[in-house]
Amino acid sequence: MNDVIYEAIVTTERPDGTPHITPLGIRWREGQVVLMPFRPSSTLAQALATRRAVVSLITDTRIMAGCVTGRRDWPCVPTAGGFRLAAALRHLDLQLARVDDDAQRPALTFDVTADQTHAPFAGLNRAQAALLEGAVLVSRLHLLTPQKIDAEMAYLAIAIAKTASDAEREGWAWLQEAVTAHRQGQDA
Ligand SMILES: Cc1cc2nc3c(=O)[nH]c(=O)nc-3n(C[C@H](O)[C@H](O)[C@H](O)COP(=O)(O)O)c2cc1C
Repeated sequence: MNDVIYEAIVTTERPDGTPHITPLGIRWREGQVVLMPFRPSSTLAQALATRRAVVSLITDTRIMAGCVTGRRDWPCVPTAGGFRLAAALRHLDLQLARVDDDAQRPALTFDVTADQTHAPFAGLNRAQAALLEGAVLVSRLHLLTPQKIDAEMAYLAIAIAKTASDAEREGWAWLQEAVTAHRQGQDA
């Protein structure tokens, strides 16, 4: 059986105290939250250093497309346990409880010290989901063939064309630019 994974934005604090945001899957285990960042990872280093992190649950998946295309500067708001995204519908403040170390992918288990809802969930939107899938694809460009990337992007583009708002259209353009830049880099 696979783990149930919810895609979120995780915020940790850099040594200078500023927020570092990254898209990361979260797993719920018996009321605790498990993060599994691959090494190397700033999120991993910072979560170990500060023993805390904040999860932002969002529907603006443009933020995920932004993070994987070099746009990490999204508005944040202080919480009792760090920083959340201003766009978070819900956030969780996390306190590190256990580390299961691993050379490739440590598992960090956190207690939830705050769980707050900030905005209503508007419902499922296919373009938001397509943008999330596109962001995962772009984060793996170096591992995938051009044919696979083109086929998946063509399929995801249908949901963008049919159901996107301006936010998803903007995020989709960032992903398309990243694919083009990756190809140009390979041809150079
Ligand atoms: C939707 C989404 C989910 C992701 N989930 C994970 C994850 O669970 N673990 C991981 O190591 N990377 C994940 N990634 C990739 C990380 O965001 C990426 O590796 C990031 O650069 C982590 O590095 P950082 O901690 O230095 O910011 C995900 C990317 C996306 C777009």
